[in-house]
Amino acid sequence: MTATNPTLTSLPEWKNLEACREHLQACHIKTLFAEDPQRAKRYFIKGAGLSLDFSRNRLTDEVLDALIALARSRNLEERRAALLRGDKVNLTENRPALHTALRNPGTDSLVVDGQDVIAEVNATLARMEAFVQEVLGQSRTGFTGKAFTDVVSIGIGGSFLGPKLVTEALQPYRASGLRCHYVANIDGTEICETLAQVNPETTLFLVQSKSFGTRETLENSKVARAWFIERSGNEQAVASHFMAVTANIHAAQEFGISPDNVFPMWDWVGGRYSLWSAIGLPIALTIGMDNFRALLAGAHAMDTHFRDVPLEQNLPVVMAMLGIWYTNFWGAETHAILPYDHYLRSLPDHLQQLDMESSGKRVSQQGETLGYHSGPVIWGGVGANGQHAYHQLIHQGTRLIPTDFIIPLQTHNPVGTHHADLFANCLGQSRAMMSGKTLEEAKAELAASGMAEAEIERLAPHKVIPGNQPSNTLMMDKVTPETVGALIALYEHRTFVQGVIWDIDSFDQWGVELGKKLGQAILPRLLAQKAASEASDSSTDHLIELFRSANRL
Ligand code: F6P
Repeated sequence: MTATNPTLTSLPEWKNLEACREHLQACHIKTLFAEDPQRAKRYFIKGAGLSLDFSRNRLTDEVLDALIALARSRNLEERRAALLRGDKVNLTENRPALHTALRNPGTDSLVVDGQDVIAEVNATLARMEAFVQEVLGQSRTGFTGKAFTDVVSIGIGGSFLGPKLVTEALQPYRASGLRCHYVANIDGTEICETLAQVNPETTLFLVQSKSFGTRETLENSKVARAWFIERSGNEQAVASHFMAVTANIHAAQEFGISPDNVFPMWDWVGGRYSLWSAIGLPIALTIGMDNFRALLAGAHAMDTHFRDVPLEQNLPVVMAMLGIWYTNFWGAETHAILPYDHYLRSLPDHLQQLDMESSGKRVSQQGETLGYHSGPVIWGGVGANGQHAYHQLIHQGTRLIPTDFIIPLQTHNPVGTHHADLFANCLGQSRAMMSGKTLEEAKAELAASGMAEAEIERLAPHKVIPGNQPSNTLMMDKVTPETVGALIALYEHRTFVQGVIWDIDSFDQWGVELGKKLGQAILPRLLAQKAASEASDSSTDHLIELFRSANRL
């Protein structure tokens, strides 16, 4: 990459890491284990109910020291303090990023631009509490007096991924029989399939949009509203069945939702950090307000850990710097997130938005082209299923793929030896990725099966697994509101730390705007209201024609 922002790569700390990388080039992680029987204990840290074994990395004390030195050289401690005290760390939008204030209701006050954000947070939590109690206690009912049975949450991006992850993750903490459905997509199938499952008399709709300007959310909400009015025959009842969470109260009102039914959001909360705000209402309605507060407390415990614990033992810092190590010094292009837990199945989806929207940047805070890579591709899925799909590429493909294994020590659903099986799978995979299988081992294995020499020679190379694939194993005792809160906050801070190292704005997302705009320009052409503009291209024109002809437009 051509560097016009050479500051980072010319730092002595960066050069030192380049030298460390040279030094470790030919070293295998299994050799590091053989050399140090205490390795697993030395590279093990804990905080906020989570523990991290990071011994299966291409890491020595020298590298760890060099990574932490790089973090210090980027003034990480000062930047962290600036984030937490509400400085305008989102430079391109001139805003703070105060998601940590959302989970810190116990503090006295935090004044930003003359506004006490803690007072706002507490007032909103109190409103949420009253609302949740009314719905769960059935003093707030549908228009025919029947208790609500279903919540349809309409929102996309951060107004969808975090709440969905958490409502799934905390199913064992369900406080009621309320079913929660999510509609995000502009593909009409999603809203139609969802509406087919619910009854207008007993369904509560939450329109979740910080901007109240997101087309997917507004179009789906219009469909839901029209469906509701048609099925109920009662337009007045919209008032008791439609709520909104937004920073744009005026737009919500224009849509037809009364201000009394609107929960606030604020500019200082980014969409991908908003599950802790009233955007978390579907979570609170599912698990109750006490558990929602426990979720916030877990995240707050991680905030405190991030703020107070020395960088060397700091979970988000260590994980972030390991990511920097692989992305910038070993050429890793992706990072896999493999939860070994059904409840955490949507974690990779949430982390994709969190990390790729935050770290998908190509210029520095000053607008200079980066001379190094920023965020990798984040991907993954439930680990046990991945073993029968994409793990093959990690084991025997040509790429370096750092992986986070995430597993609870205890299950909510003890059945037979399932949890031990699951744990064995997780450990077996991380061990195989680390140690692999040499040519000699492959040959010996085939020889032991009685195979002829020529056949052994032919097959053995296919059985070699190079190993040396780095991984972290992140654990919690159990999936609980507190540990889920801590886990998500951990990744938020990991992303922030990496943004500090790369000197990018982790809190804006200008890249998503262009596609949105162009989509809006194409829509009238699909519907034949407008001819091709000069700015079009032959591929777009051709595909528009195909669409129009298939739909007889
Ligand atoms: O797709 C970009 C984005 O702005 C995300 O950052 C955000 O979470 C999502 O759209 C939804 O935005 P809103 O909550 O304003 O509808």
